[in-house]
Amino acid sequence: MSFIRMRFNIKLCFVFLLLIIMINVLLLFAIFSQERKVMMPASPADKQLKDSKHEKGIANDFFATRIIEGSKAISKFYKVPLLNPLMKKHLDTLINDLQVHINASEKLLARSVAWVTWQELVPRQGEPLLGSVLHALKTLPISSVDNASKGTQLKLMVSFQSNLKAIFKPKWYPLNTIIEGPVYAGKDRYFGEVAAFHLSLLLGLPRAPISVRRQFNVQLELAPIASPELLKTFSNNNDNETCMYGVCYYCHPNDPVCTENGMLDGALILWLPEYMEIKKYKHPWRRTYRKNVLAKWETDSEFCAKVNVSQFYRNRPSVLLDLIDTSIFDFLIDNGDRHHFEMFANTESPVLLIDNGKSFGNPHSDHLDILAPLYQCCRIRYSTYERLLVLKGGTLSRYLSEMLKMVYDSTILTDLHLEALERRLLLVFSAIVFCIKEKGEEFVLVR
Ligand SMILES: *[C@@H]1O[C@H](CO)[C@@H](O)[C@H](O)[C@H]1NC(C)=O
Ligand SMILES: *[C@@H]1O[C@H](CO)[C@@H](O)[C@H](O)[C@H]1NC(C)=O
Ligand SMILES: *[C@@H]1O[C@H](CO)[C@@H](O)[C@H](O)[C@H]1NC(C)=O
Ligand SMILES: *[C@@H]1O[C@H](CO)[C@@H](O)[C@H](O)[C@H]1NC(C)=O
Repeated sequence: MSFIRMRFNIKLCFVFLLLIIMINVLLLFAIFSQERKVMMPASPADKQLKDSKHEKGIANDFFATRIIEGSKAISKFYKVPLLNPLMKKHLDTLINDLQVHINASEKLLARSVAWVTWQELVPRQGEPLLGSVLHALKTLPISSVDNASKGTQLKLMVSFQSNLKAIFKPKWYPLNTIIEGPVYAGKDRYFGEVAAFHLSLLLGLPRAPISVRRQFNVQLELAPIASPELLKTFSNNNDNETCMYGVCYYCHPNDPVCTENGMLDGALILWLPEYMEIKKYKHPWRRTYRKNVLAKWETDSEFCAKVNVSQFYRNRPSVLLDLIDTSIFDFLIDNGDRHHFEMFANTESPVLLIDNGKSFGNPHSDHLDILAPLYQCCRIRYSTYERLLVLKGGTLSRYLSEMLKMVYDSTILTDLHLEALERRLLLVFSAIVFCIKEKGEEFVLVR
């Protein structure tokens, strides 16, 4: 009996030991693999992808994974500046154009109206008076101010003596505020409008309206000339600052914007000439703006082809390519809120880059799905690709920050946002490289 029991115990011990060894091996493995994960820090796009896994469709995860992986192993070619004397000269011209040559006047401001054509809002090759016009826009007295009730956010409609109009988007956040949440979260970022305008020139897509940073003394400059409807929304707070809530969809007395030391800071955006009719269209790649409700483009990887054969786009073959350019512009500035797009009511009009306020919200995140028109269509104008190459290897952020320094003594874009631009540009290249690998250069680069 005891012999049998002993044999039984030995067997049990053996099994027990084996179990312990197995548990140890598993534990070690788990620790090791966890360490490996910690050792490779996730990129912002990686993190974005993980955060979005639960809400986003498969169509985008497939591309996003490849674009992120591809950007980590991307050829050094995309990380060094391009040495092209001709293009360097052009970029230097864009900077020199920002010098102020002429005193501010209504007449000077009015000259900018003549720059607007059906194709562009500012001359593509450069305009020596641009700096002077920006200066005029920043300093000329205004003659009236009204609410701008169209749209969801508080804006002011400002008029100059010559009757030129401009939209004022007030400052809601300090420059270094980080907007968390969905890509369209938060209110307009005034500095985003200003930076986006200059970026559009660098990208060779001069279709963003002229925008400057401007500060108004509300009691001296705005209150005496404000419309009764707007004035009704003015009040003073406990710090004796003037607050206003304006007239718009989301405007509410509980949510006013207030002056700082009597000054209202923001972006002043020149209105386009009234005689040039603008039409608004739904963006095919718009978001649903509802949690857990996916749009077609988020689940259907053949979405681009379907858009391309629809009547509207068949009749306007350049618009889809414009939307692809626009998606690159928007991805760089982190604008995921282009639910509609505008064009002049002229058949040849390009897509305009109006309303860039929901940009530069979070320099730590890259919303790759803004690029969906690019990676789902796998097509890009050759001229756009060429221009991106001119801006690679640090050139983009260097020139953008130099442009802003020409016009402003104060910071417009923080270093974190400038770094984000470089990181995102590399992701754009990764998307193009991915497409060329899949479809071939002939297919992808549209000449
Ligand atoms: C610009 O204004 C300054 C000071 O107001 C004046 O001295 C100068 O002559 C003006 N220049 C031109 C070109 O009008
Ligand atoms: C300002 O608000 C009033 C009242 O809602 C409206 O009638 C008017 O059209 C608005 N002005 C502009 C320029 O939107
Ligand atoms: C509040 O501000 C107004 C206008 O800016 C000024 O005239 C007034 O003296 C201020 N009141 C106090 C108590 O500071
Ligand atoms: C749309 O279809 C046309 C005709 O097949 C094709 O030439 C063009 O490249 C397509 N555009 C995009 C963006 O896929």
